[in-house]
Amino acid sequence: MEGITAGNFCQLMMRRQLVPAWITPFIRVSTGVPRLARLKERLAAFRHPSPAATAPPLPIIAQLMGDNIPLLCATAQRLAEAGVAGIDLNCACPSPIVVRHGSGGARLAHPKWIRDALVALRQACPQVGISVKLRAGLHSANELPTILAAVGDASPDWACLHFRTVPELYHDVPNGWERLAQAREWLPAQVRLFAAGDIFSAEDAQRLYQQTGVDGITPARGLMRNPWLLTDIQTACTTSFFPTHTIGEKMLFLLEFQDSWPMDRPLRNPTLCPGPILELAKNLLGMCHPWVMERMTRSTRQCVPAPV
Ligand SMILES: Cc1cc2nc3c(=O)[nH]c(=O)nc-3n(C[C@H](O)[C@H](O)[C@H](O)COP(=O)(O)O)c2cc1C
Repeated sequence: MEGITAGNFCQLMMRRQLVPAWITPFIRVSTGVPRLARLKERLAAFRHPSPAATAPPLPIIAQLMGDNIPLLCATAQRLAEAGVAGIDLNCACPSPIVVRHGSGGARLAHPKWIRDALVALRQACPQVGISVKLRAGLHSANELPTILAAVGDASPDWACLHFRTVPELYHDVPNGWERLAQAREWLPAQVRLFAAGDIFSAEDAQRLYQQTGVDGITPARGLMRNPWLLTDIQTACTTSFFPTHTIGEKMLFLLEFQDSWPMDRPLRNPTLCPGPILELAKNLLGMCHPWVMERMTRSTRQCVPAPV
């Protein structure tokens, strides 16, 4: 998630072994092929914090967004050279600017293009995995069978479906999981289907799996509410035990997040709490916790214009 996976949150998640792999935020490919150095810079946040780290590097799947197949392929080749494990094609971003420019979710209106792009990426980078991120449609979920037929034709290694359509943004969709269950039936079995959307707890993940039969999940916002979400889900799947986390554990996580705030991103006022840390603290501890209240008060105080 752009803006959240950047910086030291990813480093902290890796230090604590809370993620098994990364899918990067989208890398926009519009007018040219980004330089290798620039691409390596984009991958740096997802590499282990120190070269001396004992754990093996995590697989990184680089996500690309654009509408020009040759440029996408050339960028994918550079990323493969930089060591990524996979290339994911973004056909899901609902941002109005992105869609107006014909990228992200706009590609859902062109199933044949999605097929051709996936086939071309496979040919350009046979050594890495190829996948696609989808929403249920550009205008309506009725588009989904045609989109999935095109994806099935291209036979990527996996596809990820966020069950909402582009105009549904993040609104409530009562039959969202039914769409996922149908998608699993429509997509050929050899294409693994990962589900996205509203997975905030291990209980959600288990119910989603039981009701839809998808092959995997890719939670996003849930990690900012519970950084242990993925390991909690893994524990629940393997032991039927649903972990909980104490206030002490949550405080330690927050303090570590705060202590490791990068020096190259100094705060204008060092007494303020960085926004991402405060947001996570609100989710973990609740708005009324003294640690949160004190920092919110300080921020609010700083925002009040000085009297004239
Ligand atoms: C701030 C933000 C940034 C996101 N950036 C990306 C992105 O770069 N690529 C992508 O495929 N999805 C992106 N997403 C979508 C999420 O990956 C996910 O599919 C969606 O939020 C639904 O899952 P969730 O309910 O678990 O968050 C982003 C979502 C948010 C909230």
